[in-house]
Amino acid sequence: MANLAVAILLASLGAVATAQKTSAPAAMPAYQGSYPSYASPPVAEMPAYQGSYPSHISSPAASPSYTFPAPSPPSMAAPTASPPSPTPSPSAGRRRLRVGFYRRSCPRAENIVREAVRNATSKNPGLGAGIIRMHFHDCFVQGCDASVLLDPTAANPQPEKLSPPNFPSLRGFEVIDAAKEALEKVCPGRVSCADIIAFAARDASFFLSRARINFRMPAGRLDGRVSLSSEALDFLPPPFFNLSQLVDNFRAKNLDEDDLVVLSGAHTIGVSHCSSFTDRLPPNPSDMNPAFATLLQSKCPVSPNFTNDPTVVQDIVTPNRLDTRYYTNVLKRNVLFTSDAALLSSRRTARKVAENALIPRRWESKFARAMVKMAAIELKTAANGEIRKMCRVVNN
Ligand SMILES: *[C@@H]1O[C@H](CO)[C@@H](O)[C@H](O)[C@H]1NC(C)=O
Ligand SMILES: *[C@@H]1O[C@H](CO)[C@@H](O)[C@H](O)[C@H]1NC(C)=O
Ligand SMILES: *[C@@H]1O[C@H](CO)[C@@H](O)[C@H](O)[C@H]1NC(C)=O
Repeated sequence: MANLAVAILLASLGAVATAQKTSAPAAMPAYQGSYPSYASPPVAEMPAYQGSYPSHISSPAASPSYTFPAPSPPSMAAPTASPPSPTPSPSAGRRRLRVGFYRRSCPRAENIVREAVRNATSKNPGLGAGIIRMHFHDCFVQGCDASVLLDPTAANPQPEKLSPPNFPSLRGFEVIDAAKEALEKVCPGRVSCADIIAFAARDASFFLSRARINFRMPAGRLDGRVSLSSEALDFLPPPFFNLSQLVDNFRAKNLDEDDLVVLSGAHTIGVSHCSSFTDRLPPNPSDMNPAFATLLQSKCPVSPNFTNDPTVVQDIVTPNRLDTRYYTNVLKRNVLFTSDAALLSSRRTARKVAENALIPRRWESKFARAMVKMAAIELKTAANGEIRKMCRVVNN
């Protein structure tokens, strides 16, 4: 039945996908190499990059009115998705991740991280969105190695953390710090910050999905020693990317078109600054649903700038739930970014959007698998990695 619904939906999408081609180029913002498209902001005032992935929730009005499910310990939870072997054939120096990596060396590791994430997200679910985004931003730049956590130093004044895609929008650093502090008390020097981010992203998915997304996260990552602002600009996809740019960007990290569609579903949570999508509001042409555009116009200034750039929730229907509502929003053209709308610009991706929207539980298991796959990007080795004592600084 679900497949029939997908087929019917696609029949109607066929016309839409073609129609969109004509309007898309006109709607493309002129990319000036700055984030976002403010007119040359002062260097000292780095503009907020709004990211194409869930950003923080800053509005207290966005607080949840529900209680979080009581989680079972991750090690005992039945996975909803069997994690694929995250690393291909182990070649020399290649790191192999394992489920239950800390079972002997730090048995409480995963429970401690989950507790830190529960503490944070029960107060502010926006932090959960921030942590999932942090995981993505960590893995796409220098691999999953916690390079995104490193603070500026005299020797490295411009780390990833200060790059426009991350600063000041990336959130949840204090959650990682809390987990690391608790871990260093019970098993000092054992658990890498990179693993903490991966566990925390898994746990944030668990809490925000109300336990529907529940999977095992392989571990054994090492922390990197390199963190460059310029690389965040090179590798993190901005919100105005079209489909071919997004596909290329993901392919560079060994993620395919399916992973792109599935991971974009994280836009069902979090917020975005107006400047990320005002190029898609009238009088500019775009394929956005007119009623949605009118709503956004009422919340955003015509020309956002650094001092006046409010945020809106990504998913107006269920803003704090990690669910498939994103895909319904895409189909209805109630999405913020060019990169969201772009998922309808090819038949193949449009079909995947429809399937995720309509087939129950399909997206949840795909999301779990894609998170595990992303969590294995470009791992550090003993030669270039370490287990940091503090997540914000490299060891001496
Ligand atoms: C979670 O919150 C409780 C209660 O405030 C606190 O005792 C505990 O240390 C916190 N756990 C972590 C890992 O931050
Ligand atoms: C996406 O944008 C790039 C760069 O502007 C362009 O070369 C490409 O043709 C566009 N692709 C689509 C599918 O519109
Ligand atoms: C930002 O925009 C507001 C009005 O939208 C304006 O009052 C303010 O001067 C602008 N700030 C800058 C730095 O341009």
